[in-house]
Amino acid sequence: MRRIKVGIIGQGRSGRNIHRHLFETMPALRERYEVIAIADPIVERHSLDGITPSPELRCYTDYKQLLADKRIELVVNASRSHKHIDISIEALEAGFNVICEKPLARKVADVERLEEVIKKTGKFFAVFQQSRFRPLFRKSLEVMNSGVLGRIVMVKVAYNCFGRRWDWQTIQDMCAGELLNTGPHPLDQVVQFFGDADPEQIFCKMDRANTFGDAEDHIKLIISGKGHPTIDVEVSRCCAFPGNTYEIYGTCGGLKAVGTEVSWKYFRPQDMGEQKAIIEPLRGEGAMPVYCSEDMHLYEEKWVAPAFANSFDCWGTDYYKDIYEAFTTGRPTEVKLEQVKRQIRIIEECHRQNPFPKTIDIGDTI
Ligand SMILES: NC(=O)c1ccc[n+]([C@@H]2O[C@H](COP(=O)([O-])OP(=O)(O)OC[C@H]3O[C@@H](n4cnc5c(N)ncnc54)[C@H](O)[C@@H]3O)[C@@H](O)[C@H]2O)c1
Repeated sequence: MRRIKVGIIGQGRSGRNIHRHLFETMPALRERYEVIAIADPIVERHSLDGITPSPELRCYTDYKQLLADKRIELVVNASRSHKHIDISIEALEAGFNVICEKPLARKVADVERLEEVIKKTGKFFAVFQQSRFRPLFRKSLEVMNSGVLGRIVMVKVAYNCFGRRWDWQTIQDMCAGELLNTGPHPLDQVVQFFGDADPEQIFCKMDRANTFGDAEDHIKLIISGKGHPTIDVEVSRCCAFPGNTYEIYGTCGGLKAVGTEVSWKYFRPQDMGEQKAIIEPLRGEGAMPVYCSEDMHLYEEKWVAPAFANSFDCWGTDYYKDIYEAFTTGRPTEVKLEQVKRQIRIIEECHRQNPFPKTIDIGDTI
């Protein structure tokens, strides 16, 4: 099998611990990709325990050196978020195909700037949104789309936890805050649950709770549109009792998904008799007052994901298998740029509704 020659910019929590780890340790990716270059000024991060690197591997201390290495076919941009657009453009213009980490951008105008360069260079470009491949999400979407739950009225997505944070992911000028950090995972899925269309209404309330930076770490977001389910999203770092990750409300039933389990129950409309609205007071036995009640058989089903399916490694592997097919055959990637752009449009509106003062000056840091 032909192996795509990869160069990774940044060897941090993402570049080293996600991308390099995936390419070097997942058998399905080792046969498809070969890491031949990495770049990070922190040289201790150039090594990865327990692997045999490619004999062709070159380690650089700055991404600009990596972009001069013309052996590379695919550059993975795992730089920090505020450099995603600029470094991706620099890499495309230097003649490389590019995978960029999430969040792609803070504003739609930046995505459009990038789109121009993709068009001009004709290079391959994709955003690393591996949560699209999360089995818990995929199963929930599959059940929703099967129709058994009836018309979908609302979908709730919650990526919540409890904890304090003080790293660069808390700083507005680094394209950070929880909406841009954790948010792209649920929001990529939300675009799928909602249906590929821009919402007509967006309401967002953000707060700064357990953060030491100047960006938000608590988000409540509601989006809606005619003919689409209402979507309720939470991303919070002050939720001490996280509940279900996904909940779906349908006219014939509902679904909940958390951990490794998706459960759903529903009635079959064909099993149920017709009802019509009654104006007169309801009468029970002896004309006594009663509430509406009827026999309703609820079919209950459950799906349990295999253990591996709940790991980042699984989602990342499936993401990169999809990229490999697209890269080598020319077929479209599953995660499309226009879908990511919809996500950024929502993010931009959330920020517009919730301006927070910027109090941290980052200078010209990379
Ligand atoms: N998809 C996911 O699940 C996921 C998970 C973690 C992070 N991320 C994303 O990955 C990106 C990086 O985040 P992180 O947590 O790895 O940050 P990090 O701080 O852990 O790593 C950033 C790395 O970039 C290096 N760097 C700085 N200047 C450089 C230069 N000139 N050339 C090359 N490298 C340089 C730093 O030394 C550091 O090692 C962010 O955009 C983040 O949102 C995505």
